[in-house]
Amino acid sequence: MSCHSIGGAGGGTGPALDTIGDKYDAETIARYIGDPTSVDPGSHMPAQAEVSQEDREAISGFLAKQGGDS
Ligand code: HEM
Repeated sequence: MSCHSIGGAGGGTGPALDTIGDKYDAETIARYIGDPTSVDPGSHMPAQAEVSQEDREAISGFLAKQGGDS
């Protein structure tokens, strides 16, 4: 939340994640958290290596539901 927002709450360093579920599935978001450039070679997001696998799966499961058709 220091860098991303959902529903208008959160920071603006990174893009809002309100519709991220329309772009990536949960598995891809989980991979993005740990290694952003493995998903988007041009990504400027710092890898969130400290986030545990369990937390990555919880966060990406939630984010994959953010969006119009997810
Ligand atoms: C567990 C925490 C985080 C998650 C789940 C997350 C998730 C994401 C996702 C899914 C994207 C791709 C957005 C898109 O393609 O539309 C993204 C991009 C980005 N994130 Fe994060 N992020 C996290 C933490 C952070 C932090 C802490 C920062 C700031 C230090 C950050 C900064 C960015 C930036 C700058 C981008 C844009 C990358 C680019 O296109 O160059 N993120 N993030």
